[in-house]
Amino acid sequence: MATPHNNAKMGDFAKTVLMPGDPLRAKFIAETFLTEPRLVNNVRGVQGYTGTYKGVPVSVMASGMGIPSIAIYSHELYTQYGVENIIRVGSAGATRADLALGSVVAGMGACTNSNFADQFELGGTFAPICDFDLLMAAVESARELGVTMPVGNLYSSDTFYDAAARNMRFAKMGVMAIEMEAAGLYCTAARNGKRALAICSISDNLVTGEELDADARQTTFTNMMKIGLEIAVKMNNK
Ligand code: HPA
Repeated sequence: MATPHNNAKMGDFAKTVLMPGDPLRAKFIAETFLTEPRLVNNVRGVQGYTGTYKGVPVSVMASGMGIPSIAIYSHELYTQYGVENIIRVGSAGATRADLALGSVVAGMGACTNSNFADQFELGGTFAPICDFDLLMAAVESARELGVTMPVGNLYSSDTFYDAAARNMRFAKMGVMAIEMEAAGLYCTAARNGKRALAICSISDNLVTGEELDADARQTTFTNMMKIGLEIAVKMNNK
């Protein structure tokens, strides 16, 4: 039952999948946080692993970069592999000066410059939003872990070096950070009646020009991952 991009078998993926952008990060997460991780997909080197965390089955698979890439992998996980929850765990650039490097942010909504939702011929503008249960679980988990996690709007751009973000036009609308995947993931989840959430660690600040060094990236990354894993535990019976 392989798909063009995934040669796992039905049942190989857990109900909840954590999705970093980078395949090597997926491997690192699986080997660092999961018990007995098993490689279930490696088509194009987009590594997918399934193991357990606190006894709960959890998968981790990379999304690649950008909406087209995350839309392929999330669509196939939702429609072919029985996956219910996808939690993007990525990095983002802050578009507000007051958002500290290393903050973990949750994307309640995701603005975009992508035409991805046009395929659904809605005749209006769709507002991509996260799943409320996943967001609640994330907020509770962040509190339990003592991690500050602002919740708000993201901007999912088709371009990394994005002119609109650098002009601060989205910031003036209260948008917290720029990344490249959340809106595509939220649309795909909505269309398939599934759940999605993006939590991101702030790796750079477009206003101040600051960037995290390698050590600091790792610490904040760990906070974000723990939140993602605790969400999986909380969603186990839902
Ligand atoms: N643009 C897009 N995505 C990002 C950025 C950025 O500047 N920083 C981290 N993710």
